[in-house]
Amino acid sequence: MEKIKLLYVDDEESNLSNFKITFGAEYNVLTATSGQEALSVFTQEGDVAIVVADQRMPGMTGVECLERIYHIAPDSIRMVLTAYLESEDIIEAINRGHVYQYFFKPWKEVELRRAFDLVREKFLLARENRLLSLELGERNVQLEKVNIQLVEDIKKRKQAEGKIRILTQELFKAQENERRRIALDLHDNVAQDLFSLKIAFETVFDDFPKVPQRLKTRGKKMSELLGRCIKTLRDMSCGLRPFNLDQLGLVAAVSQYCEEFAGNHGLRLDFEAAGMDGLRLDSELEINLYRVIQEALSNIGKHAQASTVEVKLVASYPVLIIRIEDDGQGFDVKKRSVEAMHEKRMGLQSMDERVSLINGTMNVKSRLNMGTKIFIEIPLSGGAQ
Ligand SMILES: Nc1ncnc2c1ncn2[C@@H]1O[C@H](COP(=O)(O)OP(=O)(O)OP(=O)(O)O)[C@@H](O)[C@H]1O
Ligand SMILES: [Mg+2]
Repeated sequence: MEKIKLLYVDDEESNLSNFKITFGAEYNVLTATSGQEALSVFTQEGDVAIVVADQRMPGMTGVECLERIYHIAPDSIRMVLTAYLESEDIIEAINRGHVYQYFFKPWKEVELRRAFDLVREKFLLARENRLLSLELGERNVQLEKVNIQLVEDIKKRKQAEGKIRILTQELFKAQENERRRIALDLHDNVAQDLFSLKIAFETVFDDFPKVPQRLKTRGKKMSELLGRCIKTLRDMSCGLRPFNLDQLGLVAAVSQYCEEFAGNHGLRLDFEAAGMDGLRLDSELEINLYRVIQEALSNIGKHAQASTVEVKLVASYPVLIIRIEDDGQGFDVKKRSVEAMHEKRMGLQSMDERVSLINGTMNVKSRLNMGTKIFIEIPLSGGAQ
């Protein structure tokens, strides 16, 4: 058991040494022969649990000494041990010295020991409590610091995410503008020039009736080849920038794209739009949705081996819902998404980014041999008119 500090103040040296002999084995007994000395021992030692003072001492009475100790350390336990305790002394001891207990001389060892033992337990408990509170306080301070740091980190991350969002938006915009420029160049310059060349080929021999038929047939073949080139260029140009999207709106553009897609891939495609009449979305929102549908269908064409596809656009305020379903071979979404990242496949990822840029959500559900369902929800407020 830990030896706690016990200070005994008495002007009679023999009492002090008796006390030390009796309690020295269980307590760390400190002694003082006057109130003044007791105060300096108390402050120097610190952590003194019990102070026992003789009442009548020259210079400073026991109660006066205990009163001052009370002001220094209110938690210390103070006791009076005297031969002459009068009723006035008792009241003074209680009021001024905040005395816990008093004992008469000659003291009874059993009584004192019982009192000290009780105090020791209380003292040790209180000290443990104090230490725990301190530790708790420190932990709280640390926690508070970590919390502040965390809030700061979250703020920074949100700012960074905001910046990335703006940059991605700009990137998509720049990409669309570039596509539009290339599409226009292809359509207006290259395709037109090829067209003029085709006409020139078709009419090049008109003024030369004697040109051999062989040469004319060759010219015709070249003209047909040019015709195919022009068609390919027009398709490429349309793929790069769906001009009908600006002119006819999302529903008509998607419907037309679906029709061509079904024809090119030899599958059945049911397209349905509901609640979309008169609903005009802003052009950025439209191009994003168009691209998302385009990529979903392109994936079906490349990977699904489907025979039937369903595309639905449903505007039901406050959301616009897009569902794209195929009955193809399906895939493990989680696994393929991770693999796709390593293989630098960007389709699903860019669909997801486009959807979140317009504050929407995208959900891909797929099971092997059970087809794939893509569910997209976009809030209609803001972009919709
Ligand atoms: N409808 C689908 N049916 C079956 N598998 C699909 C379907 N859609 C996507 N996948 C699978 O998910 C993978 C990732 O698709 P994602 O569009 O990201 O890449 P990709 O089409 O292979 O390449 P990219 O789109 O970059 O040209 C695909 O490689 C394919 O395995
Ligand atoms: Mg893809």
